[in-house]
Amino acid sequence: MRHYRIAAIPADGIGPEVISAGLEVLDALAARDGGFNLVIDHYDWGTDYYKRHGVLMPADGLRQLRSADAIYFGAVGAPDVPDHVTLWGLRLPICQGFDQYANVRPTRILPGVKSPLAGVGPADLDWLIVRENSEGEYAGQGGRSHRGFPEEVATEVAIFTRKGVERIMRFAFGAARARRGHLTVVTKSNAQRHGMVMWDEIAAEVAAEFADVTWDKELVDAMTMRMVRRPRSIDTVVATNLHADILSDLAAALAGSLGVAPTGNVDPERRFPSMFEPIHGSAFDITGKGIANPVASFWSAALMLEHLGEARAASALMAAVEQVCAAGILTPDLGGTATTAAVTRAVCEAIRGTNLA
Ligand code: IPM
Ligand code: MG
Repeated sequence: MRHYRIAAIPADGIGPEVISAGLEVLDALAARDGGFNLVIDHYDWGTDYYKRHGVLMPADGLRQLRSADAIYFGAVGAPDVPDHVTLWGLRLPICQGFDQYANVRPTRILPGVKSPLAGVGPADLDWLIVRENSEGEYAGQGGRSHRGFPEEVATEVAIFTRKGVERIMRFAFGAARARRGHLTVVTKSNAQRHGMVMWDEIAAEVAAEFADVTWDKELVDAMTMRMVRRPRSIDTVVATNLHADILSDLAAALAGSLGVAPTGNVDPERRFPSMFEPIHGSAFDITGKGIANPVASFWSAALMLEHLGEARAASALMAAVEQVCAAGILTPDLGGTATTAAVTRAVCEAIRGTNLA
């Protein structure tokens, strides 16, 4: 029996609803598979914790998570606390503290889900966006001086290091090799003439190590048009922290809903636990209504299982999700009327019926 310890941090908004749905589905999978078992450690960190303790997680939070095999994260953010406080108090310290430098965002159109692009179906849109997750525009460098005076100044410095760019390029070329063998390097080196020019140069250097992967380069603004107009021309994409943040929302919308989009914050060297989470965020407008789409959370769980080496269970989970979507059991964001609980129940039933052998 293979044992894994999972740290669950549901946190805020719809996070608890979709993470508990995900844990139910993981339970059904482990029972069906019989080869592995998951021990879940529950953490109550997030904005409520912050209101009680003045911090989003305890000072030794990373030490507590350190021994987990993976982290399953919900969403952080609340309407009455500034976003940068919640983000820099919980999610980014975990990403940076565990050097989860590769953020992976698969996007495809699930069966039964309609893309807003006319005539575009599952065969036309199947992408993996690799987001640099440790530096760039999210490095946290900068400052603010002379507050309130006319000469007030703020800097937000994007950091690009040779080491940081090399490792994300290697990861992205490797990911492209494992898919259809084509990588698009997103850049803005026409305007950002230091960091982005080095980014392009390193991409070309690393490309030489991957002779079997074809690649092209696209400016980020042109990339938005290409995603809309020529989705088939895209396979794997690598972009900076901020560029990929923006492109991945567009990708999610083109695939039908942010409610299905998953992500993994991965330490490819496996020195630390990696963290898996839906992209959608806390969604306070629908919190507590029981209609949050749990599919992003399920898909994130599948990425987590894959990372743990449980590829068979991961594909069984995605097969079950696809079966349920195809049957039209969809939450309102996808045009359906099903509740979170109904989708979860249907996925669990599909898993029980799935032949994992
Ligand atoms: C994402 C989110 C976050 C980000 C927000 C919540 C800060 O938009 O994961 O894409 O920008 O990284
Ligand atoms: Mg985003």
